[in-house]
Amino acid sequence: MSDFIYSKKPIQIESGDGVYMSDDGGTEYLDMGGSYACVPLGHGHDAVRSAVDEQLSKLTYVQATYPVGIREELYGTLVDAAPGDIDNVWLCNSGTEANEAALKFSRSATGNTNFVASMQAFHGRTMGSLSLTWKKKYKKHYEPLLEDVEFVPYNDSEAMAEAVDDDTAAVMLEPIQGEGGINPATTEFLETAREATDEAGAALIFDEIQTGLGRTGRLWECERTGVVPDIVTSAKGLGNGLPIGTTLCRDWIAEDYGSHASTFGGNPVIAAAANATVSTIREEDLPAHAAEMGEYLRDRVERDLGNAVRDVRGQGLMIGIEVGRSANSVLRDLAIEHGILALPAGRTVVRLLPPLVIEEEHADRVVDALAEVMT
Ligand SMILES: Cc1ncc(COP(=O)(O)O)c(C=O)c1O
Repeated sequence: MSDFIYSKKPIQIESGDGVYMSDDGGTEYLDMGGSYACVPLGHGHDAVRSAVDEQLSKLTYVQATYPVGIREELYGTLVDAAPGDIDNVWLCNSGTEANEAALKFSRSATGNTNFVASMQAFHGRTMGSLSLTWKKKYKKHYEPLLEDVEFVPYNDSEAMAEAVDDDTAAVMLEPIQGEGGINPATTEFLETAREATDEAGAALIFDEIQTGLGRTGRLWECERTGVVPDIVTSAKGLGNGLPIGTTLCRDWIAEDYGSHASTFGGNPVIAAAANATVSTIREEDLPAHAAEMGEYLRDRVERDLGNAVRDVRGQGLMIGIEVGRSANSVLRDLAIEHGILALPAGRTVVRLLPPLVIEEEHADRVVDALAEVMT
């Protein structure tokens, strides 16, 4: 009889400091998975800790329809950071909830029902988000899901243009597919999605839950292509490890969003964490640092690992290394023999999503370890 329904890893993590975490025996691990991209500032960051401490001693909770200083501050911070002319904020507790809201809002605002998503997409695990997620394994136990979802091959502009029609409520896309294997969208693909949704009166949703907030070397990955969506969703690193998600949308969506709410969304303590996180990312220009470190890391992988790896993809500090064999076996060796934690993205891709504050020494350590494991 197990005490928890997840399978457990063999390491018991008890503390974190910057880019490192430590287990119950005091062994240190370099967190190159960034705890699934949830700690852009590193573990235990002072700005987040002191913002949370201050808010905890003032007010832990009041429902979201009451204005609270820190929540108002966060709205301003998010609107200021949002791409293009997106200036409405809805707050929740996770990525899948942010996407769920985006799907509901776009149905309400357009009066349409259908969705277009991409093959290999990952958008979360609640019923709506899961319906637009590609992998059968995640869905098969819970069907039937939403029926009106069409999947097009990622980066197939022609298929995208054909899939969107007058019944489409929204197209939802990750500007770089994360879980699907670190696949960057072409500018043409996102532009086609923009044109098709404009023409059909549908919403364009970018799921920037993994790509956003500086990870890819820009505040938002859609900036690479110049395409501005109607809705952008963010979560993961938004609270530097504390649970928060947001659905940021244009006026025409917000004006007709329907009826949707979340008891804990916008919790003042979590709002304080998110406000400190986004402000620090921008004040310290961490997107630029991520771009520089990402380039350094990818260059070193290409130079030092050469033919030992099949491909290196991604932007900034969202990196996929196609290892041409079981990613999980490489990850196990990295963890056990080298004290480095990273992630898989599919069967054969090692995914790096480290804190945005890593330095060259950390990148060097990963490449050296990979070189040993791979050869
Ligand atoms: C692109 C993307 N969308 C949505 C989600 C779901 O977020 P959460 O696990 O916070 O519900 C994830 C999580 O991995 C993600 O990477």
